[in-house]
Amino acid sequence: MTAVPDSPARRDTGSRRVPAPAARIAAHESAEVTFTVNGTETTVEVSPRMHLGDVLRERLGLTGTHLGCEHGVCGMCTVLLDGEAARACLLFAVQCEGAEIVTVEGLGTPDDQHPLQQAFSAHHALQCGFCTPGMLMSSYDLLANAPEAAAENLPEAMSGVLCRCTGYRGILAAVSDVAESYPDGVPEPRGCAPRMLVGRTSPGAGTAAEEAGTAAPQLTEVRLPTGPPSAVVDVTSQLASPVDRVWGVLTDFDLLARCLPGAQLVESYDEDRHRGRATVALGPVKLSFEGLAQVVERDPDAHRLRFHGQGRDTGGSATAADVVLHASPTADGGTELSAHADVHLSGRVAQFGRALAGDVSRRLFEQFAAGVDEAAETGSVSEVPLGRRLRLAAGAARDAAIGAVRRTAHRLRDRARRGSTG
Ligand code: FES
Ligand code: FES
Repeated sequence: MTAVPDSPARRDTGSRRVPAPAARIAAHESAEVTFTVNGTETTVEVSPRMHLGDVLRERLGLTGTHLGCEHGVCGMCTVLLDGEAARACLLFAVQCEGAEIVTVEGLGTPDDQHPLQQAFSAHHALQCGFCTPGMLMSSYDLLANAPEAAAENLPEAMSGVLCRCTGYRGILAAVSDVAESYPDGVPEPRGCAPRMLVGRTSPGAGTAAEEAGTAAPQLTEVRLPTGPPSAVVDVTSQLASPVDRVWGVLTDFDLLARCLPGAQLVESYDEDRHRGRATVALGPVKLSFEGLAQVVERDPDAHRLRFHGQGRDTGGSATAADVVLHASPTADGGTELSAHADVHLSGRVAQFGRALAGDVSRRLFEQFAAGVDEAAETGSVSEVPLGRRLRLAAGAARDAAIGAVRRTAHRLRDRARRGSTG
């Protein structure tokens, strides 16, 4: 299909006027942006480099907007921005302050489908369906804003969204059908009544409906997700320091945070609630979490500390954990420090899987335990260089990959053995 530079579906969405920022925002900081999505005003806190597609999917749970190339080529991510087709992957979310955004969830609901959705269904205009949200939003824009283009040359006018399955015939037939049925203009999106954001629950965040119309609150209380954790970590380390000194470190959150490689205490709300920041590298992916740790149990006699932690990465990953640290004296005057953690992961970080998450958590704990030992001895912790942290995570990733290959080989050998004896 020929590319048409000025087709409605290919408008340069990156050229939207950018409102002058109130202040410069550093790359690691976040900014609040308020826009209306599917009829509901919502405010989200985003990193300045987060694109609209990620915000819709990861923050608002509106996963109907698909992401393909993320370079403005495939059109999968097409949404309506102030009534016109726009590529969500080419817009920084902070550019969309005050905008009216409509996603495919706003076009129609399962009970009240838009005529375009009905026509796509009637004409079998999808196979895998990956391009369908982009096709629907792009064809809506075409029929609403440039119906003459549809009448003159529909294939060219629809060339801004790529489909790898259908051969386009069903799609063109559906759009053509709607164009003929509504010569005076295609009906408005149907799912855009106020408070109709209609997102899925995004673990670690509120539902889209909950977030609708409210400013993103600063996290002041940890809420652990329900359901089984993504990984369970049980680790024990032997420390040379006596148990009282180790307990002294465990109850000093400023010192404790510095024992964890890449972590930093930002603010303490009270004795039990502490806001912090942590940078973790998983292979080539560097995650920067900001979140809250809340002590839920402190037992000085048993030297047992339990806290809940919750954090979000600027790229949309979220993590939460229920952590129990327990220090017990050993016969040689040292301390056995054990940690049990139920770790919940969501968003991009969840794709790394249970094995890698568990492995990285274990290695981080080993470094953390070494930091606690040093802090108990000297009252301070040396900074772990970034290069060492990266090597640590890369090592975990490599080990997890080798483990996965070995497990697969083992399974295949077992299967072959069963086949030859069966
Ligand atoms: S994902 Fe936006 S154009 Fe491909
Ligand atoms: S239906 Fe599969 S990409 Fe279009």
